[in-house]
Amino acid sequence: MTKHVLVYRPLPADQLAALRARFDVTVLERPQAHDPDFRAAVATAHGLIGASVKLDRALLDTAPALEVISSISVGYDNYDLPYLKARGILLTNTPDVLTETTADTAFALILATARRVVELANWVRDGHWTRNIGAAHYGTDVHHKRLGIVGFGRIGAAVARRGRLGFGMEVLYCNDSARPELEAELGARRRTLDELLQEADFVCLNLPLLPQTEGLIGAREFALMRPETIFINASRGRVVDEAALIEALRTGRIRAAGLDVFEREPLPADSPLPRLPNVVALPHIGSATHETRAAMARCAAENLIEALSGRRPPNLVDASVWEDRRAAR
Ligand code: DGY
Repeated sequence: MTKHVLVYRPLPADQLAALRARFDVTVLERPQAHDPDFRAAVATAHGLIGASVKLDRALLDTAPALEVISSISVGYDNYDLPYLKARGILLTNTPDVLTETTADTAFALILATARRVVELANWVRDGHWTRNIGAAHYGTDVHHKRLGIVGFGRIGAAVARRGRLGFGMEVLYCNDSARPELEAELGARRRTLDELLQEADFVCLNLPLLPQTEGLIGAREFALMRPETIFINASRGRVVDEAALIEALRTGRIRAAGLDVFEREPLPADSPLPRLPNVVALPHIGSATHETRAAMARCAAENLIEALSGRRPPNLVDASVWEDRRAAR
């Protein structure tokens, strides 16, 4: 029997062709979780490949044949890991291929907020540049400042490299475990979260959304930062208490924020964040370049093909599910 695959995010033609050559493929362009055609396709699928749709228990309960979910993302907060393990459903993701691009996005936010790039470009566009600028338009330096990285994994290290090697920044980090190799490479120094928040000029979040990181940065943490602090989040919105962030920006508790991610995405139209002058808000573009999205699609398609062919896919989120399945054979 040919296996059924549901593709729920657009794939490059060559990746789609590779899937069609092996499987019976249904393609749905950017569906929502409640769409009837999406639900119907999930119900008969052996494999799912896509991103940005929360796949909850109630939905996956309707899919008895499901063997693998291949997420076209590095983050896996849209999936219920204990449930997938109990069902023996493999989950794969796309690490590595997006590290440098996502670090570029975080660094773009660092530069844009510190040098007020968006605010001042809009000011020029709106015809205000009629005489030379004065101190009211000055920004703050990035080079040789203190960069605080919260979450020192692949992307956090790539942001730190840009700061240290490109801008002569001093790197502080906070991470569950020490990273001696990065301390040696970048002169990075480990701090507790509270110490880092107090000392860093730029606080840059690079954490996955997990039960233990949800709401990690709230009113208490913003109160520890200094009025000069610039806050950057290109990881996941729900790591931050957004109401506390808005309050910190409005009251001058921190200088500015560069944000690629939000509690709710797309950002609700009534959110004050994009209208605050000291905020640069982006529509979750972390990995969104032509090259990187193509690489992610290729990686995800390979993961799916390997899993549905009975081979160990290279990027398992929880390898124990694969081991359980092998033991049960
Ligand atoms: C990821 O891969 O998790 C990024 O946030 C892009 O969606």
